[in-house]
Amino acid sequence: MGHLFFRDMSIDNSTKTLFLQQCSVNSLVLFPKVVRMVENSENLWFAEWFDTDYYHTLYKHRDEREAELFMRSITNHLQLPAGSQICDLACGKGRHALFLSELGYNVTGLDLSENSIQLAKEFEGKNLRFDVHDMREVYADAQFDGIFNLFTSFGYFDAQSDNLKVLHSIKAMLSQNGVLVIDFMNAEKVIANLVSEEVKTVDGLTFHLTRSYDGTHIFKNIQFDDQGKHFDFTERVQALKRGDFEDLLSKAGFKVVELLGDYELNSFDAQRSDRLILIAQQ
Ligand SMILES: C[S@@+](CC[C@H](N)C(=O)[O-])C[C@H]1O[C@@H](n2cnc3c(N)ncnc32)[C@H](O)[C@@H]1O
Repeated sequence: MGHLFFRDMSIDNSTKTLFLQQCSVNSLVLFPKVVRMVENSENLWFAEWFDTDYYHTLYKHRDEREAELFMRSITNHLQLPAGSQICDLACGKGRHALFLSELGYNVTGLDLSENSIQLAKEFEGKNLRFDVHDMREVYADAQFDGIFNLFTSFGYFDAQSDNLKVLHSIKAMLSQNGVLVIDFMNAEKVIANLVSEEVKTVDGLTFHLTRSYDGTHIFKNIQFDDQGKHFDFTERVQALKRGDFEDLLSKAGFKVVELLGDYELNSFDAQRSDRLILIAQQ
């Protein structure tokens, strides 16, 4: 069964859970663009890999429960009033955006992946909308009170200038007193604890994962077979650390006002924290 089978169903909480976890491998045939990109194998790994259902399968444990915990704690912490305009930038299937809308915010989820946005659009409502958008560009004439870039959705591009392009676009889309939240991996801890090889079976698919670090990037090679085809993707994320973000943010006209280290909002500790969560303002 592909996710398109959920289109006509009314959505209750259990259906939402099912829907957000629904990552049919068969539906790949419904997305010839993805197959084409995989076969052409352009050097745009983030556009290819994140647009597949396989990405959602491998990361299905990063679910809406985790998103709820973090969104509840961060919005309380920031004291963002209900009704505020929030952008979930690089929203994926919209797990954070959906919960933010349930908290009473007006939410726009943006992502490059047409497949993810098609899935997310099933949840659109009065105060929740989704659109395909490249975060390096400014989105329409939007002005947001908060822009959230969550779960390591940064550092994908070769050019450092593209990182700055993202931050400049964010600045243009953020109101004067608006707040930017970037939730990134804690690269220092990831590098120190890199698991070089791992085999993971999810929904009947066996993923062979190989991780490495070359001094600037963290690589995760992902190989698996499905329906007689072999697939080979490599995630390549810049190992940006606290100082790198502070530099980039400062160049784009932001100052970091707080650093947090996990979704329960404990303080950041480079050795121990799971996450590097930066809160920045203009
Ligand atoms: C690690 S996923 C995180 C998704 C989501 N924030 C979550 O927590 O589930 C990274 C996301 O960034 C998106 N992405 C990659 N490059 C992008 C770009 N240039 N503009 C917008 N989104 C992009 C991918 O499509 C993917 O959905």
